[in-house]
Amino acid sequence: ASPAHFIVRGSILHFLQDPAQYPDAEAFEYLDDGYLWLADGFVQGTGHWQQLGDIPAAARDHATWADHSGHLILPGLIDTHMHYVQAGMIGSFGCRLLDWLNDYTFPAEAAFADPEVARVTAKFVIDRLLAHGTTTASVFGSVHPQSVDAFMAEADRRGLRMLCGKAMMDRYCPPEVRDTAEQSGRDSADLISRWHGKGRLRYTVTPRFAPTSTPEQLTIAGELYRSKPDLHVQSHLAENDKEVAWVAELFPQQRDYLDVYEHFGLTGPRTIYGHCIHLTGREQAAMAATGTAAAFCPTSNLFLGSGMFDYQSVAGAGVRVGLATDVGGGTSLSMIRTLAEAYKVSQARHHPLSPMRGWYLATLGGARALYLDQFIGNFASGREGDFIVLKLDATPELAFRMERAHTLAERLFAMTTLGDERCVVATYILGQRAH
Ligand code: GUN
Ligand code: ZN
Repeated sequence: ASPAHFIVRGSILHFLQDPAQYPDAEAFEYLDDGYLWLADGFVQGTGHWQQLGDIPAAARDHATWADHSGHLILPGLIDTHMHYVQAGMIGSFGCRLLDWLNDYTFPAEAAFADPEVARVTAKFVIDRLLAHGTTTASVFGSVHPQSVDAFMAEADRRGLRMLCGKAMMDRYCPPEVRDTAEQSGRDSADLISRWHGKGRLRYTVTPRFAPTSTPEQLTIAGELYRSKPDLHVQSHLAENDKEVAWVAELFPQQRDYLDVYEHFGLTGPRTIYGHCIHLTGREQAAMAATGTAAAFCPTSNLFLGSGMFDYQSVAGAGVRVGLATDVGGGTSLSMIRTLAEAYKVSQARHHPLSPMRGWYLATLGGARALYLDQFIGNFASGREGDFIVLKLDATPELAFRMERAHTLAERLFAMTTLGDERCVVATYILGQRAH
């Protein structure tokens, strides 16, 4: 059968390179009145609407069309670190990391022993991710394998490119959310065989963070990572000063926090660590050298009072950096709101994140941090057709501001600052409308 062609009209923006490292003409493509052409859900090309004739007549004649003229069309947003099992405890008052985990997080995650809780929450979170324009996320489940089954089943049903893993945690947590090294190895291996590579899903080996895993469990996590091609790893690193001091006590043999993960073979391609606020120069250099990525979680930095991620320094050291919500330590599923907070955190660090680099981070930068840029992140030919449609004047304040914004960067930055999920008018997955 001939492929199903789909042509979308709108203002197209996507990134080809990091705008901090390349001139604008090489870093992104912007088509004020453009088209995005898909076949069977995969990108064929982009162009000026005036040059629609570049699409072969055979494709045009049988295409379906969507007119989003006047709206901005971007690749789907990528949340490189979030906990779907914490959707029910966002906005828990008054604690910093370690108390917050004990007082709120572990009790909330204990409920995911019940597969019905997992099913309802997974459906809710995936609906809401799509409503916020997020089409790919690196997702933590709870310790219970059924939490990952529920999330993966729902993501697969909708054809999403999602990463998820069961939290491995065998010490310093309540028995309701504790596993053992052996059980976590068996459960993770079962989940890998069920979900890794099914549709667009991939499994992520997920030792929660160094303090809640014994050396035995971290050894097993490293073995799992190497047990099959394309497995991912996610965890937390250098988020909070008390946490960093505790890791130094628990692992006196290791030079620093990252060295714990290095020692157990948990650094390298497809590994990503949330936070990375309190890194030494050695840790930054080792992350860059091994291709280990960092997830910048600005709303969580602020909400948990953990500190300010130093984007300029970490990215400048050559580390792959993605942007992330870290829900429920973070406060919103919106990558647009997260960008606004990323800017404020970068201001506090005296290196304001440029509007273009911000949107790069939320799309291609995230795809690169997750090593998924051959599939998603921009509209290069052959990429999966996940994209979103943004209305720049979705609120009265935005409309008022947009009338006075002249350049693309100015408009994008006004949207970063004033915008949120109300700007997301449509989300498409492989060319099919999903929101
Ligand atoms: N460190 C270990 N677990 C967590 C978590 O669930 N959230 C955050 N923000 N940090 C963590
Ligand atoms: Zn986290």
